[in-house]
Formats: sequence, C-alpha cells, structure tokens
Amino acid sequence: MKGTVKVSLATTLCAALLLAAGCGGAPSQPAPSQPATPSSNSTAPAPAEPASSEKQVEIFSWWTGAGEAAGLEALIELFTEKNPDIEVINAAVAGGAGTNAKAVLASRMSGGNPPDTFQVHAGHELLDTWVAADKMEPLNDLYKSEGWDKVFPQQLIDMMSKNGNVYSIAVNIHRGNVMFYNKKVFDENNLTPPTTFEEFFTVAEALQAKGITPLALGDKEPWTALHLFESVLLGTIGPDKYNGLFTGQTPWDDPGVRQALETFKQMLQYINDDHAARNWQDASQLVAQSKAGMNVMGDWAKGYFTTDLNLKGNVDFGWAPTWGTEGTFMVISDTFGLPKEIQHRDATIEFLKVLASKEGQDVFNPLKGSIPARTDADVSKYDEYSQEAMQDWASNDLTPSIAHGSAASPGFSEKITQVITVFVTTGDVDQAIADLVEASAEIQ
Ligand code: GAL
Repeated sequence: MKGTVKVSLATTLCAALLLAAGCGGAPSQPAPSQPATPSSNSTAPAPAEPASSEKQVEIFSWWTGAGEAAGLEALIELFTEKNPDIEVINAAVAGGAGTNAKAVLASRMSGGNPPDTFQVHAGHELLDTWVAADKMEPLNDLYKSEGWDKVFPQQLIDMMSKNGNVYSIAVNIHRGNVMFYNKKVFDENNLTPPTTFEEFFTVAEALQAKGITPLALGDKEPWTALHLFESVLLGTIGPDKYNGLFTGQTPWDDPGVRQALETFKQMLQYINDDHAARNWQDASQLVAQSKAGMNVMGDWAKGYFTTDLNLKGNVDFGWAPTWGTEGTFMVISDTFGLPKEIQHRDATIEFLKVLASKEGQDVFNPLKGSIPARTDADVSKYDEYSQEAMQDWASNDLTPSIAHGSAASPGFSEKITQVITVFVTTGDVDQAIADLVEASAEIQ
C-alpha cells in the first residue's frame, strides 16, 4: 500500500457517554430491538444471562437483506461445516451502514449484554468507542498464533490497534469511491463514463435530455448523501488535503471544501425526485433497471448487482472511480472483535479464526462485493471488478471514509451527517461551512 490511512489514537469520553446514549452516534430514540434473523441456522432465542455453557456464537451485524446477507450466510455455513457442534445465532439488525444496528449495539454494550462478536469499522469507529471504553479484549496472541500479523497489511492492522494492542480482525476491504453506471444506457447513447466533474455534468445533461435520471440517490438513510459528498470532496481537494481534514492540516472552511459543496449542490439537480424515499438498494436498482444512468455507492453495490440481481460486470453495469479520484482508494473495512464479558468466548474465537482464514475470506468477499483483507487470497475466485479493486488497493493512495467510521470520531460523523442532510434540502453553502467548522471540534 502506498498511502497512509490516518487514524488518530486519541481517546474520547465515550466511556462516559456509554452510560447515556451509547457511543457511535447512536440516536437518542431507542432503535428497533427486534433482530432480523434471515439467515440464522438456529431458532434459539438470544442467549440468556448469566454466562452460558452452551456451544453458541452470536454474530451481530447489519447484514440482512439484498446485497448484504449472502456473504455472511456463506461464512456461517463454512463455520458450521468446520464446527458442527457450535450453534450460530445470526443477530443481524437491518439498516444500511449500521443505521439501526449501531444504536442496538450501544444499548446492549452499556446494558452489560454484549453480543459475542459484532461488526465494527476499522478506525475511529472501533478505537474511539469500544476500545476507549475498555470493552474489548486485545487479540495480540491470536494474531501471533494464527499468523495474522503476517498476512494482513500492517496499515490495516494499525487501524485496529491502539497502544500496541490490536482489537479486531478484518473480514474485508470495501471501496467507497466508486461510480457504477448502466452500461447499456451509456452504450446506446454513445456516452463515455465521466472521470471529471466537468464530464459528469456533460453526461448528466445528455441523460436528462433522454428522460433518464442522471444520478441515483437513496438518502432515506442519511449516510448515503454523506457517502456521495465525501467522494465529491475527495475528488475536489485530492487525498493529501482530504486526509489533512482529520489532522487539522486542512481547515474545514478551506476554499476546496466550499468548491466541493458547490459541485455537490449542482449535482443534486440531477438526482431522482424520490431520493428521500429510497434506501441504497432502491437507488442502485434505478441504475440496474435503466431508469438512472449512474450511482455512487461502496462496492457492496457490486455485490448487490451480481449476487442478488444477477447482473454482469462490463455487460449490464460498468464502474469507475468517482470523478477526480482515480489513483485514490476510499477504504472501508468491516471487522469483528472479542468483547469482554461475553458468554461464548471459546466459540467466538473459533468464529474469528474462520472469518480471518483464507478460505473464509474467499467465501465471503466474492458474494459481498468487497476484496479480502488478507494479502494471500485466491485471486481466481474474484471477478474483473474485484481484481481491479485489488490492484488499486495495493497501489493507490488510501483515504478513510467519514460515512463508514474510519476517518474521525463517531461524534463528528454524526454531526457531518446532519450537516449534509440539511444541505441536501437547503443548498446553503455558507451555513454548511459554518456548521462543518463547528462540527470539526469533535474530530479526535
Ligand atoms: C457499510 C459496510 C458495508 C455495507 C454497507 C451498507 O458501512 O461497511 O459492509 O454493509 O455499510 O450497509
């Protein structure tokens, strides 16, 4: 890896916050407490207190439904093959990017009822919350005994580490700055995928003239608007200045941030009218159904296209780095750790071993749309999109995602999500800059 993902190691007051609303930007309203269990191989209820001697492992994530569940199901199947005596409780809570799951997790962690293991992004989302609150066991011994320290990239290990201890293990690497487009629509209209903002607006005009929505957005869950904005921001100011936003080197009222907001505002003129009623899958579907030309989404959308909708890369859909971001890879990594005081520690360690194994990663990632976090994966198991992503991951500059928890503290991520949500409605650039500057006080 060429670039550096900056993860400040400063701790937060999250331990105290845990007692109130929980960390991770949890909404103040309690989230739905009904876990969706679409792929559970068990009908057993959630584990009862106190510590149980049953051979179970409860896996908590937000991977339910289209584009999300298939990879986890395959991983669970592999685990069950290898550990037929351990029952898996799939405690997934629906909602993209952890919209609901993070709040449920916060309340379980603060209530002394941690899941055996849970999905958490590498970077600040892990380190500023559960690690800062001393809720996680270090995995240093497992890294050594399993040889993970040799097959996972050091920069990724650093994103899961604090004060020399490593606290989770990554199942994947997703890329955030991807533009997907409907290949047939582009070919039929003689359009070339835009690589710059200028080209984007030219193509958007051409699509609009044909009655096709140029850009699909589904911001019913507000993180998707931030996801689009952070890609626009990266494409406007470049990786060095973007990374500088989280170290204090780039001020949030930098002219580049203003420019990005202006471009984003102009871009919003080309989105579908019903964006606020759609989630990310619904927005991706507009592209799949030739109703929209383009969509910016992490490459879990590629998993959705190929695994769930049976679309073919470079036939039905194409892809390119988002405008102005060629050579940069926006990193999102889903990781799992070992919370303290869980009920099924041994079984959980067995699950982590399968998740981190080459076989586990090569079963999960081709379905999920991500690439393996391990460096020794079997490349032949991956499609053209993912093979390209692997090359880019190994050679590009790396930047952390704000929308997916790596770049900055959950407090800041929550605030910027609000700022961008308001901006989508008002388009008030001055106000957004003022709000971003104020929110930046939360960056750790
Ligand atoms: C991200 C996560 C991905 C995918 C996506 C949509 O935060 O890292 O694995 O699940 O949300 O829900």
